[in-house]
Amino acid sequence: MIPVFEPCLGQEEIDAVVMALGRGEISGSFGQAITDFETQFAAYCGVKHGIACTSGTTALHLAVAAANIGPGDEVLVSASTNIATALAVHHHGATVVPVDSENVTWNLDLDLLESLITPRTKAIIPVHLYGHPVDMDRLNAIAQRHDLLVIEDAAEAHGATCRGHKTGGLGHMACFSFYANKIITTGEGGMITTSDDAFAERLRLFRNLGFTTPRFRHQVAGYNFRMTGYQAAMGVAQLAKIERFIDEKRRIAATYNRQLRDVFGLQLPVELPWARNVYWMYAVAVQPEYGLSRDELAARLREHGVETRTFFCPMNQQPCLQKPGRRMPPCPVADRLWERGLYLPSSTNLSDETIASIAGKIKAAWAGAGLARRAA
Ligand SMILES: Cc1ncc(COP(=O)(O)O)c(C=O)c1O
Repeated sequence: MIPVFEPCLGQEEIDAVVMALGRGEISGSFGQAITDFETQFAAYCGVKHGIACTSGTTALHLAVAAANIGPGDEVLVSASTNIATALAVHHHGATVVPVDSENVTWNLDLDLLESLITPRTKAIIPVHLYGHPVDMDRLNAIAQRHDLLVIEDAAEAHGATCRGHKTGGLGHMACFSFYANKIITTGEGGMITTSDDAFAERLRLFRNLGFTTPRFRHQVAGYNFRMTGYQAAMGVAQLAKIERFIDEKRRIAATYNRQLRDVFGLQLPVELPWARNVYWMYAVAVQPEYGLSRDELAARLREHGVETRTFFCPMNQQPCLQKPGRRMPPCPVADRLWERGLYLPSSTNLSDETIASIAGKIKAAWAGAGLARRAA
C-alpha cells in the first residue's frame, strides 16, 4: 500500500536524539536543545519568540489560555479543520463559531467574517488548510477593525507565505504541530510563535504549571505541556531540512497537477498569486461531474494499493460541540468538502513515477465511469 504519508528521518535526527540523551536532556525543564529549537524556529518564522510544547493541540490550548479566552467569549474558527482547533476553545469554556470555507483554497471565507462577529467575539483562529495560507492581510484588517485577537493555526503550513511573509508571524500568536505527518516532525510536538513579549511570558508560564516564585505557590492555573529535550534536538535536525522538504512537497504537487489537470470533475489545489502553498497534503475535491463519488474513488484506489484520506468533518457537524440553544452557523461549502474532499499520498520521498501511476489509476477510474455512463 502506498501510504498517504511517511516521515522522512535520517541519521542526523538519530544522532541528534542520541546526543541529547547523552547530555541528559530528557525532561522539558533544562538543556540546550529546547532553547536552540525555539530560537531557530522563531527565526525561521521571522518572529521574536518560540515556545515549544507537547503537540499542536496543546499549542492551541496555551494560546487560548494566554489570550485569556473563556466563558462568555465567542471565537471564530475555520469550519474545515482538525477538531483540535475547536477543542482548545471549547475546553476553555468559550463558544466555537465555525466560519464556512470558500471554494478556491478551501480556507475560511473572509467574506463571511464580519457577519459572524458579535459583541462577544474575542478572537479568530484561521487555519492554513493543507498548506495554503489564509489571506492574512485581509483577515488582520477585519480583526483590527473589530479589535479581535488573531491566532493562526499553522499546524499544516510551516514555511507557507502570504505576500512574502511566513506563517507564524501573521497574527498575534501562531500554533504549529510537529506530529509525525507534518512538514517537520518531532514525533509528537508543537510550538507557539509570537513577537509579543507579554504573550510569550504567559505562554511559558502556562506551559510550566504556572511556576513562579515563591516556588509551589501558583497564581495561574497552568499545564505541564513541556516538550522533552530529545524531541527538541530532533526538531533542530528536521528544521535544517525544512526548505528541502517544502521543495519536495511542491514538486509532488506540480507533478500531480500536470498528471491530473485534464480530469474533468476533479478540483485540484491552487496557489494564489500572493501565496506560497507548501502542499502539506495534495488534496482534491471529487465533483459530481467526475462520475464516481469520492468514496467510490477512494475504494477503487485502495483496491489498487493507494491509501487516501477524506477531508475533515466540519466543526458545525461535530456532536461534541453542540450545546442546547447555541448558535451554529450553516457551513454548506465545508459540508460539501467533507463529502467530496480526498487527499492523496504526499510523502516527500514519493517519486514522479509513483505519482504518475497513482494519477493513472485515477484517470482509469474516471474513464471507466464515463464508459459506464455512456453505456447506461
Ligand atoms: C489544522 C490542525 N490543527 C491542529 C492539529 C493538532 O496537532 P497535533 O496532532 O500535533 O496535536 C492538527 C493535527 O493534525 C491540524 O491538522
